[in-house]
Formats: sequence, C-alpha cells, structure tokens
Amino acid sequence: MRPLIAGNWKMHGLAQQLGEIGAVATAVETTAPSADILICLPATLIDRAAQIVRGRIAIGGEDCSAEEAGAFTGDISVEMLKDAGASAVIVGHSERRHYHGETDAIVSAKAKAASRAGLLTIICIGETKSQRAHNETLSVCDAQLAGSMPDGMTLTATAIAHEPLWAIGTGQIPTSEEIVAVHARIRRRLLARFGEDGRLVRILYGGSIKPDNAHEILALPEVDGGLIGGASLLACDFEAIIRTVSAGH
Ligand code: PGA
Repeated sequence: MRPLIAGNWKMHGLAQQLGEIGAVATAVETTAPSADILICLPATLIDRAAQIVRGRIAIGGEDCSAEEAGAFTGDISVEMLKDAGASAVIVGHSERRHYHGETDAIVSAKAKAASRAGLLTIICIGETKSQRAHNETLSVCDAQLAGSMPDGMTLTATAIAHEPLWAIGTGQIPTSEEIVAVHARIRRRLLARFGEDGRLVRILYGGSIKPDNAHEILALPEVDGGLIGGASLLACDFEAIIRTVSAGH
C-alpha cells in the first residue's frame, strides 16, 4: 500500500508561511517520494496553497460540515473545500471532538459528506492517557472506529488516523509494540466489517511524529503513513519525514 504522509497545520499559517508549502511541493517534484503527500490547512489558505502546488502534492481541509449548504454561519461544506482546491479533509480530529463537542455520530456524518464529494477522508480516533492506563485503548478505538466511519465510504479514499491524545503535541509516543497492537486491531476490525476490502483502508499513526522518530514509526506493520502536526509546519522538517518513508519502503 502506498503510504500517505499528511500534514495538519491546525490553526497556524498566514500568507507569509505559504512558501513552506511551495518548498515541500518542489522537493516532492524533484525527489518523487514513494508516498502520497498531503498538507491539510486552515480554510483561508487552501485556495492559494492549491495554486502554488499545482497538483504536485495534495491540499486538504482540517474539518468540514456534514451539510451541503444552508444557514450554518461559519461552517464550510465539502463542496466549498473542493471548490477552493482541496482534495482531502480530516474529520474527527481530537481537537474538534474536545473543543467542539464532536461525537462519533457527527464525525460519521462529516465523513459521509466528504466521501460523497469524492474527497480523501482521514477519520481520526484515539484514546486518552487515562483510557490507556485503564487498558481501554482497544475498546475505545473499536467504538470510535465503528461509530465514526459510516457505511458506503470509498475505502481506497479513506484513512483511519490513530492518534493517542496524550501523544499529540507532547513529544511522547507509544512504544512500537503499542502502535503495532492498535493498528493490528484496527485492521482486524476493518476486515471483519468489509471483508478483504478492509485492506484498502490506510491506517495512519499520528502524535509527535518528528524527523528523528519517523523512520521507525512509519516502517511498523499496518502503519500506512502518518498524520503530522507540529513537524509539518516547516518544509525542512516535513521533507525530512517524507524522506524517511522513501528510504523505508
Ligand atoms: P503533532 O500533532 O504531530 O503535533 O503531535 C498531530 C495531530 O494532531 O494531528
């Protein structure tokens, strides 16, 4: 499976940072890495970023509405993301779940809308520190996966991002064994639900991936790429991570 390396800029980035995206696109064009490269951006930057990268890498949104259009002040539909030049979107990031009260049902509706519009859809799941301490990681991930991934998704254009909440932005990462255990479980659930087609879904790891740990994490079994926050903001870091994938696959 061709890995997916996805950046998530979160609420960072003004026009002056667009040069970082241009630099990543140029590096990808020159080195032709053996991975799909995506940068998910604040909606305000998508149009300009898409014009800069001209298809050399993919540009995505960080969230979307489940609605197509209507009286939803401040919300952005998947059609609007596409219109701006996005070909992907993240749904259910833990920061959306936490700060905006997004439930599995809301995330599932957003994923359905994204898939309907033909966007590559990254559905995020992940356990808290206390859930891990109480040995609930696998059951929490099972429940989130079942509740956040609707039927009818285009499986080749769907990725599940396992992001332990306690690993996001903290510099802490699970052990390789812990990552493998969760990813193997996610794959088993996908196979149980979709049969052999469950293999078409990419399973990403996210949480404190950096240039110095990327190679080890991204080479683990059932890790089909990464969702990268902080280390996607600077082209030099993001490019270093992309290079580790090319070296490892
Ligand atoms: P991080 O964020 O790489 O900064 O830990 C990952 C994410 O939240 O997607």
